[in-house]
Amino acid sequence: MNELKFDFKDSLVLPIDLNLVEKNMMDEIDVLNNVVKNKNYEDYRSFINLPYDEESLNNIKKIIYEKKKLNPKYLIVIGIGGSNLGTTAIQEAILGKLYNELNPDIKILYADTVDSDIMSSIIQVIEPILQKGENIIINVISKSGSTTETIANSEIIVNLLKKYKKNFQDYVVVTSDKDSKLWELALEENFTLLEIPRKVVGRYSVFSAVGLFPLGLIGINIDLLLYGAKDIIRKSINKNLELNPAAKSASLIYIHYKRGRNIHNLFLFSPGMESIGRWYKQLMAESLGKEYNLKREHVFTGITPIVSIGSTDLHSMTQLYLAGPDDKFTTFVKIKHNRNILRVPKERIYSKLVKGIQEKKLQTLMTAVYKGVTKTFRNHKRPFMEVRINNKSEYAMGQFLQYKMIEMVYLGYLMDINPFNQPNVEEYKTETRKILERKKGD
Ligand code: PA5
Repeated sequence: MNELKFDFKDSLVLPIDLNLVEKNMMDEIDVLNNVVKNKNYEDYRSFINLPYDEESLNNIKKIIYEKKKLNPKYLIVIGIGGSNLGTTAIQEAILGKLYNELNPDIKILYADTVDSDIMSSIIQVIEPILQKGENIIINVISKSGSTTETIANSEIIVNLLKKYKKNFQDYVVVTSDKDSKLWELALEENFTLLEIPRKVVGRYSVFSAVGLFPLGLIGINIDLLLYGAKDIIRKSINKNLELNPAAKSASLIYIHYKRGRNIHNLFLFSPGMESIGRWYKQLMAESLGKEYNLKREHVFTGITPIVSIGSTDLHSMTQLYLAGPDDKFTTFVKIKHNRNILRVPKERIYSKLVKGIQEKKLQTLMTAVYKGVTKTFRNHKRPFMEVRINNKSEYAMGQFLQYKMIEMVYLGYLMDINPFNQPNVEEYKTETRKILERKKGD
């Protein structure tokens, strides 16, 4: 079966130290078990219930079915941070970074920040489609419904749509919180609506309509994604800590943080997972970077996430990782089987340059590089843990993302902070709105 395999033996943490920290987590494991048992959305941890929400899933599938009937050529996802990073992450891991180039039925474009060059390129791509009388779907995603970038970009794209479609409403899907002003507006405009439960925070929302609608529309098997997520939830709330990977890795990251390793390096040996790295950066940075702890004491705490790609970053960052300050704990992630098998040709043109690669699979070369780098980390006593993934299937990616979200809840608990708020992100949003409201014209 396609299970994630965890290996903690190179973490350089003694069982006695690990046990002490893990034991501390029992209360939080109990809370998570209760949240799962209650199956509601009354707690901020209840993102963990999203994969079990049949009602929401059926509604999402119904809307996917309806919108597919419009035969759209493009899906434009308009959202930022937690409202698009998870979708990009899963799309690229499963369908590849060059997905749009491979002539899929529905291509996907993302509009996140307010960059006029990127937005103009998007317009250049979709306007000819609309001119030909063909269809696009716009998915505006914002939990708060008031993020400047998302609202500005959606105004631009919806305006364009209006130019070409009388019944433009049919092509717009809004994903938001029922309490948001965006929700109200979408109701007035007759857009299709999908709900984000109030207590599900952006960066934990990938298995809500936020991720499931766009991913399902472009053909990702969302049932398998959720199946994977559910499988790892069972393990990650297990009170037998030997069998609980999320509790274990959170404990290790925490122990190293306490030892001064306040940088966590997610080292992905799969370029297709690079956007999973970006998603994880948000998850860790925004969840753990806090001014106050739960007792309202000033702590200015956090763990800085960095992401490395194997083998690319071995040629840029690894000198620092091995010889620089010993301030990082690394999680290596290795994919066993890629979708495609490609070999170095038998008849080599440059056979004298590198020996031992003739007729070998690229995957074999990657595995050799991986073994080489983990051995070197070991030689230099740089601590790490490993996650081995059989392939980049929906099931496996569902497991991986869900495992990481639960790991973050445990880390928040150990660090005594609230991993679900982002007061300082809200602060910049408010300041931006104030500036824009004051400023007239251009
Ligand atoms: O995790 C979070 O809550 C944030 O990073 C948000 O996802 C991000 O700021 C976008 O917010 P919204 O979905 O409200 O537009």
